[in-house]
Amino acid sequence: MALWGGRFSQNAADATFALSRSIDFDWRLAPYDIRSSRAHLGVLATSGVLSPEDAHAIDAALRELYVEVAKGSFLPIATDEDVHSALERGLSEKLGARGGSLRAGRSRNDQVTTDLRLFAIDHMLEIAREIIAMQSAILEKASEYINDSAPGFTHIQHAQPVSFGHELAKHAQAFARDLDRIKDWLARTSVSPLGAGALAGSSLPLDPQATSRALGFDSHFANSIDAVSDRDYVAEALFILSMIGVHLSRIGEEWTLWASSEFAWAKVSDAYSTGSSIMPQKKNPDIAELARGKSGRLVGNLVSVLTMLKGLPFAYNRDLQEDKEPFFDSIDTLLLLLPAVTGMISTTEFDREKMALAAPLGFSLATEIADYLVLKKIPFATAHEAAGACVALCESSNRLLHQLSDSELVAINPALDEGVRAVLTVHGALHSRTSAGGTSPTRVAEQIKAAMKNNIASKLDIADKSSRFMEMMGS
Ligand code: ARG
Repeated sequence: MALWGGRFSQNAADATFALSRSIDFDWRLAPYDIRSSRAHLGVLATSGVLSPEDAHAIDAALRELYVEVAKGSFLPIATDEDVHSALERGLSEKLGARGGSLRAGRSRNDQVTTDLRLFAIDHMLEIAREIIAMQSAILEKASEYINDSAPGFTHIQHAQPVSFGHELAKHAQAFARDLDRIKDWLARTSVSPLGAGALAGSSLPLDPQATSRALGFDSHFANSIDAVSDRDYVAEALFILSMIGVHLSRIGEEWTLWASSEFAWAKVSDAYSTGSSIMPQKKNPDIAELARGKSGRLVGNLVSVLTMLKGLPFAYNRDLQEDKEPFFDSIDTLLLLLPAVTGMISTTEFDREKMALAAPLGFSLATEIADYLVLKKIPFATAHEAAGACVALCESSNRLLHQLSDSELVAINPALDEGVRAVLTVHGALHSRTSAGGTSPTRVAEQIKAAMKNNIASKLDIADKSSRFMEMMGS
């Protein structure tokens, strides 16, 4: 059913209808559309635009429709253009001409962005809950390996030994920033556009503050033209989702590498691996690879929306309809990916012995020699030079640093006395890195404890925000 007609003498061509139709992807906005319609109805009733009888009948029909949509007994049909027109048809089927009263003082322009904001808040809260679950899996896993050493890398070359718990826990920090971004975003997105109308507000006695409050928004728009044109919240959400995707891709790369037979550090559970159709021996880390691969489409969706918005005139233009598919796709992609990655992380076991044996390889203790000399008041450049000479000697004689003799060490620098042996072990090196945020097991344990505390605080905060949102939807 078209929402216009008065000034048209011809129906839309099939191609026009097919191109402009958005119901195939925007139907999922239906619950939010009904909820925001009920808020709009509330102000039409309190301001006297609608009689109490009409308002009561429309509200009852909207509630019925809400249940029917949830059950799947009310569905879009071929002639519905979008979610708004489908639901107006539903209302008219129940109430006849009265069903059209709700359009007073409202346009699809403020309606669609109100719905999309509600959808966005609901789903970004869900993403936050998944991130929190993953963060807690990371921290649990990290706490199992605090006292295990492993090579730490730069340029994928052995750099310095680290606590493997430290290595794992770093991911929890990245996701903590993502959670912060979601919280910031929530505060900025919690602005109701309802009441902006087509672009210029309304001559009817609407009350944007009341509808904003009814929908659980923190505030309402200040400029009606901005309100219907603004999709910053979609672009920003897509950035946050891309950043999460990029973080997941780095986990994916790490897990793929660690599960390779060359590394063989990670034993990924069968439940989170796949086999090969031709090579019976294969066990592939597909979850990790998909985590790496799907970041591409997440970034693509962000670029797609930013490009659509660039140079777009104010106020509403149909281009804006292109905000939905990329956004829905990013949400759906992450809601598939996050639980799988969480499961993969919490069921992976690491080969402690193998990692410990690898930790001192590649002369990863050379910095310890330099630091030892610095503590003996040798200038760092000289100390660096001496440590380099130790590495060169080892390389030419095929030995490890701790295998150099006392006399060889003293010959390189007189300050390299037997005391240096204490730091020429992985254990010594690891336990010496006690600076704040460093890799010594004591610091790592503190770091993980603090991160777990933050994780619980985020969990409570997001649970509270989610239940307030659910309450609003159900009221
Ligand atoms: N389906 C449209 C969208 O998603 C709804 C708004 C249509 N507004 C209009 N003036 N044609 O953007």
